[in-house]
Amino acid sequence: MAKAVEIKNGGYFCAECNRTHIKGKIYKDHLKYAQDDDAEDVNIGEKDDEAEEEILEDDIEDYDDDQELIEAFDELEQLNEEEDLEEEIYASEDIEECIKAVKSLPGVGEATLNKLIKSGFNSLESIAYTPPNIIINDSGLGEKTTAKLIKASMERLGIGFKSAEDIWERRKNIARITTSSQELDDLLGSGIETGSVIEFFGEFRTGKTQICHQLCVNVQLPREQGGIEGNALYIDTEGTFRPERIIQMSEAKDLDYQKVLKNIVFGRAYNSDHQILLIKEAANIIKEKNIKLIIVDSLIGHFRSEYIGRGTLANRQQLINQHLHDLLRLCDIYPELAIVVTNQVQSKPDVFYGNPLRAAGGNVVAHGSTIRVYLRKGKGEQRVAKIVDSPSLPESEAVFAITEEGIKDG
Ligand code: GTP
Ligand code: MG
Repeated sequence: MAKAVEIKNGGYFCAECNRTHIKGKIYKDHLKYAQDDDAEDVNIGEKDDEAEEEILEDDIEDYDDDQELIEAFDELEQLNEEEDLEEEIYASEDIEECIKAVKSLPGVGEATLNKLIKSGFNSLESIAYTPPNIIINDSGLGEKTTAKLIKASMERLGIGFKSAEDIWERRKNIARITTSSQELDDLLGSGIETGSVIEFFGEFRTGKTQICHQLCVNVQLPREQGGIEGNALYIDTEGTFRPERIIQMSEAKDLDYQKVLKNIVFGRAYNSDHQILLIKEAANIIKEKNIKLIIVDSLIGHFRSEYIGRGTLANRQQLINQHLHDLLRLCDIYPELAIVVTNQVQSKPDVFYGNPLRAAGGNVVAHGSTIRVYLRKGKGEQRVAKIVDSPSLPESEAVFAITEEGIKDG
């Protein structure tokens, strides 16, 4: 069993595998250690940061149910068999490229580079999007150096001011993908818009995965039929992608299903690290494969099952935040790209009036997605969609149906 020494910020430096572990995250080579650790309830000290407390208050989940933990361990045991796969990912050339970019930042010598990499800051993005106090704590670098590194990383990534005119130019080029339901399209302001992250959240069997399948077909349609003549990238975290449904939906639109299937690039994400990496790698194939739609079904399922317990919440939220920013950045770089993510709901036991269900992931996900759509069941095949958060759409509802042929008006 691996022994790990607790370091700052609730992490562990593990002498056995020479890696810094995030507290509470279950590493498959430390399955037994993680199980023991979970039982021990390690104290990481007081959190006096106000923002962090806000996250904690807002995102507390009910972990009383051991089932979630058991399922997480079952999944991890399966992962042991996929060892080779993960090693391949860690050896990815992309990461080397990212490290090269960090090395090329002004003032980064061997010592600084080592500190950054050891504490997990191995890309410009990870530096640009992480709050300075976290970089300072984790890497041991000074305030001035950290501020300079963040500024330089932001400049390299082109994060900065734009004129409202530039933004308007971009918005004029927004394209839309039909959902195959006129009502749902109208609700969304003529379909799913490119350049945004759209989140569908709701209870099980409310149609989140069905909408994702339908959009993978529809994105390929000619523009006059509501498509944008592009291909889809489907990141499946739950193993629920079904080519059979794509075939049914394609045939219902008189499309050659073999062509449609060929134009969907599929990636099964086995854990949250893998999911993050797949999105980072997506950037390399968007142009080459003419990808105009990225689906992540579901966005935070892995994070929820891997980061168990209250003490892991801040780390988990930070990772989800970075992951969402990876997605948002893709929209910025490729204005003709639409991103659709699905999200589970969790019950909020303290709500006595109104809907006690809300999207998992708390404020981080709420602020990361551009448009949020809440789905609930109606009668039979009917489902009800409601816009709950959009910068320009009113909060209204639409009824649609899930049929053999796919999504239709309800
Ligand atoms: P979770 O992933 O479990 O949270 O649910 P989800 O919201 O992704 O549900 P999903 O999109 O998988 O919807 C499942 C529902 O779609 C089923 O309950 C069916 O009602 C409907 N459905 C799926 N396939 C078919 C089909 O071939 N014909 C018809 N009529 N309905 C279907
Ligand atoms: Mg689903």
